[in-house]
Amino acid sequence: MALPESVDPQVWIERWDRMQEACLLDRQERLELMADLVAVSQPEDAVVVDLGCGTGSLGLAVLERMPGAAVVGIDVDPTLLPLAEARLEPYGERARVRQADLRQASWPGQVGQGVRAVVSATALHWLDRAELARVYRQAAGLLEPGGILLNADPVRSEHPDIHRYRAEWEHELLGESEAAWRSFWDGYLAVLGPEAARERQRALKAWRGDDEGYPLEWHFEAMRASGLGGLDCFWRRGPDAVIGGIKQPDAAGEERTRKRMKAKPTPAW
Ligand SMILES: C[S@@+](CC[C@H](N)C(=O)[O-])C[C@H]1O[C@@H](n2cnc3c(N)ncnc32)[C@H](O)[C@@H]1O
Repeated sequence: MALPESVDPQVWIERWDRMQEACLLDRQERLELMADLVAVSQPEDAVVVDLGCGTGSLGLAVLERMPGAAVVGIDVDPTLLPLAEARLEPYGERARVRQADLRQASWPGQVGQGVRAVVSATALHWLDRAELARVYRQAAGLLEPGGILLNADPVRSEHPDIHRYRAEWEHELLGESEAAWRSFWDGYLAVLGPEAARERQRALKAWRGDDEGYPLEWHFEAMRASGLGGLDCFWRRGPDAVIGGIKQPDAAGEERTRKRMKAKPTPAW
C-alpha cells in the first residue's frame, strides 16, 4: 500500500514509537538487548527475520548494532509496512519488508535461505497457541543450526494471584496505554482514509490472540518441541519477557560458534 503524498512517514514512525513506549516498559532497552543477543551469538553478516515487524523498530536496532547484517521484516498490516519501508530505507539492500500473515502456513515463503536469527517484539501474542506453536516450528525450520530465536512478549503467570499482581502493577505504570494505542490508530487511519482502514481490517481479520500472553513453560515446551535448546528468559519485567533459544547446532556449527565467541569481546550486559 502506498501512503498518500500528504502523509509524512517520519511523523507516524515517531508517533508509533511514542505510542509503543506508552504501552511497554523499557521498550528500547528490550529491542537493544535482542539486537545484542543476535550480535554476540551470530555471524556479522547474519540474515535476521523480524516477525510482526510493524514499523521496523526492532529491525532498525539490529541493523544499527550489526553493520553487516540484513533484515527481513514480515507483517500482515498493509498500513504499517510503508512506515517500516521508510524507516529502513537508508539501509538499502540490507533491509526488506514483506506482507505475510503468520496465521497462514505459507509465510516462510517470503524469507530466503541462510537465516541466522528469527526475532519478534510484542507481536506473537496476536496468535493463538496452535498458531504460535506452528510459527515456532517454522521459525526453527528456517534457522541454520546454531541460529537464534528471540521473542519479546507478555508472558502469563501460571499462578492467578501472581498474574493479577503483575497485571495490576503494569496497569498502574501504564494506565494510559489503551488510550495511546487508540489515539495513534484514530489519527493514522484518519489521514490514510477509509479504504486503507478497510484494507487493514481485511488483512487483520478477527483477533485470536491473548493480550496477556501464554505461560513461560508453554513457550519453552513449544520451543523445545521445535528443536531449540539453550532456552532462556533473557529479560523480565512485570508481565513482559524476552525469551528464546538456539537451534541445536551440528558439530561443524559448534566449532564455528566456539571460534567466533573466542574472537568477540565480552558484551557490557
Ligand atoms: C504491537 S505491534 C509490534 C510491532 C513491532 N514489532 C514493534 O515492536 O514496534 C504487533 C505487530 O504484529 C503484527 N501482526 C499481528 N498479527 C500478525 C500476523 N498474523 N501476521 C503478521 N504480523 C502480525 C501487527 O500487524 C503489528 O504490526
